[in-house]
Amino acid sequence: MESELDYWSARALLEWQVELGATEAMIDGPLDRYGLVDQKPQAARVGEVPPVPPKPQKVDPVAVARQLATAAQALPALRAAMEGFDQCDLKHGARNLVFSDGQAGARVMIIGEAPGREEDLQGRPFVGAAGQLLDKMLAAIDLSREKNVYITNVLPWRPPQNRDPLPVEIAMLLPFLERHVALAQPDVLVLMGNIACQAVLGKRGITRLRGTWGQAWDKPVLPMFHPAYLLRQGAAKRQAWADLLELKARLGALN
Ligand code: URA
Repeated sequence: MESELDYWSARALLEWQVELGATEAMIDGPLDRYGLVDQKPQAARVGEVPPVPPKPQKVDPVAVARQLATAAQALPALRAAMEGFDQCDLKHGARNLVFSDGQAGARVMIIGEAPGREEDLQGRPFVGAAGQLLDKMLAAIDLSREKNVYITNVLPWRPPQNRDPLPVEIAMLLPFLERHVALAQPDVLVLMGNIACQAVLGKRGITRLRGTWGQAWDKPVLPMFHPAYLLRQGAAKRQAWADLLELKARLGALN
């Protein structure tokens, strides 16, 4: 078809398009898009509300964790459920899930805070400097992870730079911890430090809480200073020793 434009008009139009940024031809010839009647989108009729695409559902991480935890009928299944839990960002920065160590079914279950560097590397709780002190403390009252103690943490993944766990992280991992205790069936729980007290008892203030028995999830619960704190504050070891004797006495009384 012969062009109806004269040379100068066509050139002016081209320059105008270049000025607008249209510097590249997409197809070889012109395309009359108004001629593509069949492909025109259906215009909404007056008064008709166009359909709203469904919003992506917001997932409640606590509800997901509770569902997964409740479904786990034994410790290996609980571990697998935690491995599959994708709602916590800590998982993506950690090398390993740190689930537990020691004897499942032991009378004493120790709950720490979260894995540090060594624990993250090895996939076992309390294997760094604080863990070595913990082992010595337990040995002093004839307990050990090889014989009669089970150990876990509030968080199974290491927080970056060992920062404190966030309340939202504790909340979404708590259903797993509660189920962990239910499946391990200890006689008593020992809470190491403020984060464990916050998670299990809902309160902080370890200096006030330590050495006094509380109750959680139908179990007697003894808060103690965290071994990492004892490494920094040697003077507090005297109180930790008193708490260990208290634990030993309670185990004797439960016998
Ligand atoms: N501190 C903890 O609370 N847990 C560990 O596993 C190691 C250090």
